[in-house]
Amino acid sequence: WVWPLIALVGGYLLGSVPFGVLLTRAAGAGDLRSIGSGNIGATNVLRTGRKGLAALTLLLDGAKGAVAVLIAAQVGPDLAPVAAVGAFFGHLYPVWLGFNGGKGVATLLGIALALLWPAGLAFAVVWIGTALITRYSSLGGMAAALAPPVVAALMGNYPLVLLFLAFALMVLWKHRGNIARLLAGTEPRIGAKSKSVG
Ligand code: G3P
Repeated sequence: WVWPLIALVGGYLLGSVPFGVLLTRAAGAGDLRSIGSGNIGATNVLRTGRKGLAALTLLLDGAKGAVAVLIAAQVGPDLAPVAAVGAFFGHLYPVWLGFNGGKGVATLLGIALALLWPAGLAFAVVWIGTALITRYSSLGGMAAALAPPVVAALMGNYPLVLLFLAFALMVLWKHRGNIARLLAGTEPRIGAKSKSVG
């Protein structure tokens, strides 16, 4: 049980690094949690008007999920999903931010690519496709989160179906505010600047 615990805690610590908050602060663009939606992810960094910073946040939030899984897999294949759980929860509930973390989209992309790359690829395609068509980042992220369990099922990897399904449900739960805004027609589209914290 020592290695699974190390994978879980190590994954959590990696996942809990809030790159969006750190990069935005380092760039002198203020506290991300009082900008736009108040979320710590790349979509909200984009609302500061800094596209490069948003891209870097997306990259690093994804990379921390992938790195946690890949390091654990080197120790033992069974540890990879354990590290994935740690990293995902670390991003969603980071101790450093009073457990108020992100919505999991970028980190799940990295995790899916590292655990089962076709699932990650499908995630990316659905995300980009939905976001391009609807211009709602949140809708893209939620639709994308549903792709990995489907791909894992098609590949006959049933343990990963369950894991990816649990991750997808967490992503939907974290987007409950976005779902309410989408239904009310008040969700901001990509590119629209929003000052309200919701
Ligand atoms: O990844 C988060 C995104 O799906 C929604 O972010 O800031 O629009 O709530 P936001």
